[in-house]
Amino acid sequence: MSRLRLERLVERPDFHVLEALAGDSELLKLGLDDELDLSRLMLAAYRGGVDDEGETEADALALVRDTFDGRVGPFLPHCSFARWRGREMVAAVVVTVFQAMPMIAFCVTAPAHQRQGHGEALIAAAITALDEAGWAKVQLFVNPLNERALRLYRRLGFCEPA
Ligand SMILES: CC(C)(COP(=O)(O)OP(=O)(O)OC[C@H]1O[C@@H](n2cnc3c(N)ncnc32)[C@H](O)[C@@H]1OP(=O)(O)O)[C@@H](O)C(=O)NCCC(=O)NCCS
Repeated sequence: MSRLRLERLVERPDFHVLEALAGDSELLKLGLDDELDLSRLMLAAYRGGVDDEGETEADALALVRDTFDGRVGPFLPHCSFARWRGREMVAAVVVTVFQAMPMIAFCVTAPAHQRQGHGEALIAAAITALDEAGWAKVQLFVNPLNERALRLYRRLGFCEPA
């Protein structure tokens, strides 16, 4: 399945959600120690969806490690965030660099916590951090059948490059 590439200028998001939503969860930068929580979250978020290829926990952990290690392009930890509710990672955004442009490599919310604004808040946090770091554009690749993700990204200003 060929993926759709969408991009957006890195300007401070006009969607102002960071403090407003999901008040009882905490936004923290993603750290290398988070690999196990992130891989479990990714497995749960993708399970049963259009991108589910039957990955195992070990597959998900290997993908996260490769990403953190920069094997799929430099990892930008200062632009990557997770939301925690207590000790549970409920959502995360992971930003890397692909072909000299920052890329939202993963944006995932645990099924039980979807439709509460976590995805939007995380993308806002990532774009704000990219802006502070001086990047001009951000891109992502999405399965065109992934309607929920497409709706979210388009609403947040991502579109096909001219
Ligand atoms: C795509 C994904 C990250 C979205 O995460 P999310 O946390 O549910 O995103 P949001 O809550 O910000 O927005 C989702 C919807 O909930 C709505 N919403 C947000 N807060 C809400 C609230 N308090 N009450 C009701 N609806 C709400 C949004 O308006 C949006 O609606 P829309 O789909 O009609 O546009 C999530 O569905 C997911 O993890 N999917 C599996 C992994 C995946 O495909 N990731 C993307 C490709 S890498």
